[in-house]
Amino acid sequence: MGPVLCVVGARPNFMKIAPILRAFAAHQPPIPALLVHTGQHYDQDMNDKLFVDLKLPRPDLNLEVGSGSHAVQTAEVMRRFEPAIDAHDPSCVLVVGDVNSTLACALVAAKKGVPVVHVEAGLRSFDRRMPEEINRVLTDQLADRLYTTERVALEHLLREGVAAERVCFVGNVMIDTLHACRDSARAAAATLQAHGHDPARLRGAAGYGVVTLHRPSNVDDADTLGELLQTLALVAERLPLVFALHPRTRANIERFSLASLLDPARVTLLPPQGYLEMLGLMAGATVVLTDSGGLQEETTALGVPCLTMRENTERPITVEQGTNTMVGRDRGAILAGVDEILAGRGKRGRVPELWDGRAAERIAADLAHWLS
Ligand code: UD1
Repeated sequence: MGPVLCVVGARPNFMKIAPILRAFAAHQPPIPALLVHTGQHYDQDMNDKLFVDLKLPRPDLNLEVGSGSHAVQTAEVMRRFEPAIDAHDPSCVLVVGDVNSTLACALVAAKKGVPVVHVEAGLRSFDRRMPEEINRVLTDQLADRLYTTERVALEHLLREGVAAERVCFVGNVMIDTLHACRDSARAAAATLQAHGHDPARLRGAAGYGVVTLHRPSNVDDADTLGELLQTLALVAERLPLVFALHPRTRANIERFSLASLLDPARVTLLPPQGYLEMLGLMAGATVVLTDSGGLQEETTALGVPCLTMRENTERPITVEQGTNTMVGRDRGAILAGVDEILAGRGKRGRVPELWDGRAAERIAADLAHWLS
């Protein structure tokens, strides 16, 4: 059997592929796999640090595509991925999540007649303004085997004409990683200290909040980003915030000259954090304010209240069962959400079905059977 070509490109892919590679190696007999990194994310903070934290092996291949417009980035991944398929004669190409690299590699494989396996299939925000939504819908159309994290995903796939027998509900590999790393999470105080900040600022009566923002819809427009930062400044009057800045967000705050909106005594700005640092920050937080997909799931698994600054989510189970509340960009909703949580009325939630740390094992078992 040829190897499974496992593709990663951007930060949220890394925590999904790590447990899958381990489960492939532990399977009897082991499932041969090669790790292909498209190079969509390449910085020390966005890439190298996570590889170390997650104990990921060095990629067998790095396509080094780097940044670009959606068309350029997608096309460049496709162009560079095709020879990898030619060289390795894979049994299938396994892609995770919804980034540009996911769709690009799925498309190349499908056109070459190589089976496509999609992990985290069937999630839908029903918002085509999100590039990820387009990537999700198209990747699922191309996929031959689809692994889902929550039951509603099957309904979405059936409606789009995907045959039920292609779909397998396995749970959430991202939560496998959370389980595997929980004990080595870095304490929030240590993370602040490492960046030269006084950890005492986290110890107020209300604890602290963690912020991440990187969606183009939130950070690419000066007025929108300015409004959001002003709202965060009001949140910071209630409890101190730790804000881990994605490079896109940092660049835009500088470009639009918005840094003065945040009081450095109340909002600690950090560079993008490693996985173990982020896990420690989240686990100790009173509230997480974010527009990330992964953080909505991780806070649900941790039982930490999350306010999601988006209009919609492709991960509805985090709202229905978990600790997530959608607040959009509405200042009143965000402040009300924070006040509820500070009053001790935040969602406690429960951990969704099969978010038990064993999703990758189920994928390995099913895939070995399916490939044979
Ligand atoms: C990508 C994913 C998004 C995911 C996010 C996590 C797509 C369409 N988007 O968005 O779903 O939530 O990753 O971070 O695939 N940059 C750096 N260093 C890097 C990588 C990027 O500085 O290592 C900067 C560059 O200025 C680049 C910008 O970030 O142009 C955007 O990077 P890109 O990979 O296009 O998208 P993300 O916003 O990171």
